[in-house]
Amino acid sequence: MKSAQGIFASAATLTLIAAICTALVAATYQLTTSRISANQQAFLEQSLEPALSGVSYDGSITASKLVIPAPHELPGSDAAVVYRAYAEGRPAAALFVVTARDGYSGPIRLLIGIRADGVVTAVRVLEHRETPGLGDRIDLSRSDWVKQFDGSSMINPNFGGWAIKRDGGEFDQLTGASITPRAVIKAISETLVYFDAHRDELFSLPATGEGQ
Ligand SMILES: Cc1cc2nc3c(=O)[nH]c(=O)nc-3n(C[C@H](O)[C@H](O)[C@H](O)COP(=O)(O)O)c2cc1C
Repeated sequence: MKSAQGIFASAATLTLIAAICTALVAATYQLTTSRISANQQAFLEQSLEPALSGVSYDGSITASKLVIPAPHELPGSDAAVVYRAYAEGRPAAALFVVTARDGYSGPIRLLIGIRADGVVTAVRVLEHRETPGLGDRIDLSRSDWVKQFDGSSMINPNFGGWAIKRDGGEFDQLTGASITPRAVIKAISETLVYFDAHRDELFSLPATGEGQ
């Protein structure tokens, strides 16, 4: 049988081992979490970059994330996200992540870049479930259709022009699939109207996100 001193020594050793293991797990978690978060941040920055073509800006765009909770006047019934880009402290551009709700097969998540002067830098489709060969041509990996919005603005074309050609507007439709382009065009024009009405407020509000 062990003496009381022996039992105490074993308990102390076990406690020490447990403490070391806990510290190791905590340190590994800390290191891994910050690395994962840094990788996610870098990935997000890279994903946003194409929508900022031609815009010079300082620092990180993801650090200026602004979450606009629903209900709002932007497309979509979920929270909208805006990333702001600044150059020497002045507004350079805003990137909107919004949802066009009236796609053929459901919501279409869009990334819309708008320069501080209201000109669209680029539009990218982030997520959709549109039909392959029909509505999916809004995706840049399928066709250049989405590039026709580069350089457009609320007044270029004028407001009546924000429609597909068949509806009297200026944008190309997709053959055999006019529901999808109508949804995308409506979402972009609504975002431009929102930007015009809220520009100063958007660029002056403090960041609300964690950068993701
Ligand atoms: C199986 C199936 C999938 C379709 N997918 C789409 C789609 O993704 N986007 C779209 O706009 N129209 C889609 N359509 C066509 C629409 O029903 C509709 O006919 C079309 O958008 C009208 O465009 P049009 O006037 O240019 O022909 C699909 C039709 C079928 C039968």
